[in-house]
Amino acid sequence: MDSVKQQLQEIVSAAFVAAGYSAEYGEVALSQRPELGDFQCNGALAAARPYKQNPRQIGEAVAKQLEGHPLISGVNLAGAGFLNLRLAGGFVAQMVQQMAADSERLGVNTAASPQTIIVDYGGANVAKPLHVGHVRTALIGESLKRLCRFLGHQAVGDIHMGDWGLQMGQIIVELASRYPDLPYFDASYTGPYPAESPITIAELEEVYPIASAKSKSDPVVKAAAQLATTELQNGRAGYRALWQHFVNVSIADLKKNYDTLDVHFELWLGESDVQHLIPPMLEMLKENGHAVMSEGALVMYVAEEEDKKKLPPLMLVTSQEAVGYGTTDLATIWQRVQEYDPDAILYVVDGRQQDHFHQVFRAAYKSGIADKAKLTLEHNYFGTVNGPDGKPFKTRDGGTLKLEDFIDMMIAKAYERMAEIGAAADYPEAERAEIARQVGLAALKFGDLVNHRTGDYIFDIERFSSFEGRTGPYLLYAAVRTRSILRKAAELGFLPSEVGTAASDEERDVQLKLLELPETLQHAFATRAPNHLCEYAFSLATVFNRFYRQHHILTEPNADQQASWLALCQVVVHA
Ligand code: ARG
Repeated sequence: MDSVKQQLQEIVSAAFVAAGYSAEYGEVALSQRPELGDFQCNGALAAARPYKQNPRQIGEAVAKQLEGHPLISGVNLAGAGFLNLRLAGGFVAQMVQQMAADSERLGVNTAASPQTIIVDYGGANVAKPLHVGHVRTALIGESLKRLCRFLGHQAVGDIHMGDWGLQMGQIIVELASRYPDLPYFDASYTGPYPAESPITIAELEEVYPIASAKSKSDPVVKAAAQLATTELQNGRAGYRALWQHFVNVSIADLKKNYDTLDVHFELWLGESDVQHLIPPMLEMLKENGHAVMSEGALVMYVAEEEDKKKLPPLMLVTSQEAVGYGTTDLATIWQRVQEYDPDAILYVVDGRQQDHFHQVFRAAYKSGIADKAKLTLEHNYFGTVNGPDGKPFKTRDGGTLKLEDFIDMMIAKAYERMAEIGAAADYPEAERAEIARQVGLAALKFGDLVNHRTGDYIFDIERFSSFEGRTGPYLLYAAVRTRSILRKAAELGFLPSEVGTAASDEERDVQLKLLELPETLQHAFATRAPNHLCEYAFSLATVFNRFYRQHHILTEPNADQQASWLALCQVVVHA
């Protein structure tokens, strides 16, 4: 169905036309002055110049056309020519009732031309535990993906694991020195290799930082790690077999963490999955003159005259014969184009990788790997999670906080908070713990997602887990309470009917807020910014709270009124 805003826009556009002006001036927006109207139209001001008329005069002419319209209860011309429009109460209620009748979609249309969108998020790395920084890409990416789907697009989420870089060679070298007798390191061994992994995830996580530090400080180790990386990439059997174990134990561990967050990927591909595409891609890039040799490395120049900041060339093959992060990303675009022919690829990746994506996108468009007219490549970057000191969040001893510990911390805090207010005190322990888990996760997710993605934010566990204010627990509480009203009503035999004309300003505010849902979703999608959904949920909870305090739904003597309020509660729950 058309949203209220769309319907109103049509009415106002028609009024402009009837008064002798072009329909384009009939654009409406939510009113900035709710005391004057629900929506406003600034078209009279915009029309003044082309029509060489006084905007107030235009406004008056349009207002005259709108007067008496059955869906509009008041037209108010303010200031220089702002039209403020009050919607008829019956119309508002009827629109909310249409939402009520469609509990799945709440009357929100699906896209007229559905797109295929790949969301590249998660970005976990083999052998490295997920840390606090990974929470943003997981949550923002998952939200965007779900939003795409709800709006009728086809969305595919790919974790794009980091599984092909120097860190792999570093670990191989470290393990070779620890366990020289394992068959993986014997170049003359022809297999088969053991099916069981020689290393657990815990050991892998312990080995990685040591291996990485050694390779940084010792040039001999570094050279060995570079060689091992190149050999792995070129298919040395023992290294591939060992590497496959790293990947398998890592994925099993990652899945656990992502399941906790209710984040799910359709594709568990990684950098390594495009290795076979790299030789033909490089061939093509050389042939069409895009890839050139520079100081022993194969690079692609992507800088352009008008760049404010000079973009360094994209490294395709290093002088050590290894392919890098940019090469695999470029080949992945190629692969995605071939397999999905997507309309857009959204990269939900840290803002510190902006240069990298500029380089890769430039290279893709320049070389024709991506066609600018058909494929949008976007880096939907995000800022850092900071500690109270405004610096990237660290553990007490200065280390990086593992995501697992971060989640546990939130849950423990939620448990503590619940104990403080005596919440669920009479529940069995297991159930109380489960509630704490849900509250803790809500605190974490909302605390993260409510921040616009491009900014940094301070992780404040006390504030995030509070039951008051703009927090996950507050929203969860509001939802639970609304459901409990419906449940108690049902127990008493009171059932929802249809949403009726608002009986108070408080109720009207709830109804109007509900009607903002379609545009809120559109806006969040268009700007790739899930925080708008958080804001919306919070403001809906706030107006509903006011309504709830004003009216005693369960003890309302007028049965019709009560049934209509219950219908409203139901829409709120679904929204
Ligand atoms: N693994 C990368 C990292 O830790 C993130 C991957 C993001 N996705 C991509 N296509 N580059 O930084």
